[in-house]
Amino acid sequence: MIRSLSIIKKTWFSKNTFGLEFSLPGIKPRPGQFFQVRVNDSMDPFLNRPISIASYSGNRLLLIIKIIGKGTNILSKRREREQVTLFGPYGKGIVPKRQKSILLAGGIGVAPLHFLAQMHYKRKIPFTFLYGAKTYDEIILKASIKHMANRSIFVTEYGSGRRGTVVSAVKGMDLSDYAIVYACGPQAMLIALQQLHLPLPVYAFCEDFLGCGCGLCLGCAIMYNGTYKRICEDGPVFELERIHFEN
Ligand SMILES: Cc1cc2nc3c(=O)[nH]c(=O)nc-3n(C[C@H](O)[C@H](O)[C@H](O)COP(=O)(O)OP(=O)(O)OC[C@H]3O[C@@H](n4cnc5c(N)ncnc54)[C@H](O)[C@@H]3O)c2cc1C
Ligand code: FES
Repeated sequence: MIRSLSIIKKTWFSKNTFGLEFSLPGIKPRPGQFFQVRVNDSMDPFLNRPISIASYSGNRLLLIIKIIGKGTNILSKRREREQVTLFGPYGKGIVPKRQKSILLAGGIGVAPLHFLAQMHYKRKIPFTFLYGAKTYDEIILKASIKHMANRSIFVTEYGSGRRGTVVSAVKGMDLSDYAIVYACGPQAMLIALQQLHLPLPVYAFCEDFLGCGCGLCLGCAIMYNGTYKRICEDGPVFELERIHFEN
């Protein structure tokens, strides 16, 4: 589905991360689903940029975008009341299981896990939110996470706050009370997490590069359980243990 939507609200969460809010009634999105966002009307950049649903509540859709390169930089210049074209939502996403969980976010991986947290909160599923960033200033959505989670842990690699990474933090946790982990962050974080071989299922939200974003180009294929899967169409959420990372 293609939609041209007006930006109702724009919020800067940190110096390089902003949110765009739209009114979008009539969808029933699942955590992990994403929109392909048209950057501008020209052919450069040609590809749309995949952005996860960070919140959907009362027909209000929130996308949170970290500035990485050309496309996200152009999007950061958009102002309230301007139109943005969204394709989607794409991806299967997941239906949260009714089991006590850990939501483990690295960097901008917080966006789809914030939406998952909303679902847990609405359904009264208990969860711990473990969230790491390079510096304390990069930790966003803190109040919302604290409000929804039964327990929230914030870690940073440099500067103030609890020091460490989410991987070192989860390694030190007593996991006997939990049934499931959902993780989203850079591939290096997912690889390190996989190497821990945690004694409970871990579901990874894969946010690597996409091409078309809708199942046609095979540009997003990953080796999963001995066969190729498309992140955009079959995922982007997969059981971490079964992913074969290339590097
Ligand atoms: C399913 C999915 C959901 C996503 N959800 C979000 C979200 O909610 N919020 C958000 O901010 N971002 C999200 N991303 C990542 C986002 O799509 C990219 O950061 C964005 O497309 C970069 O575009 P750009 O034009 O700014 O950067 P480019 O100019 O395309 O790239 C700049 C540099 O960053 C590298 N790069 C680009 N994309 C990625 C990536 N995905 N991972 C690692 N390195 C990359 C490039 O290799 C290049 O070196 C998601 C990605 C996927 C696949
Ligand atoms: S990005 Fe084209 S098939 Fe997934």
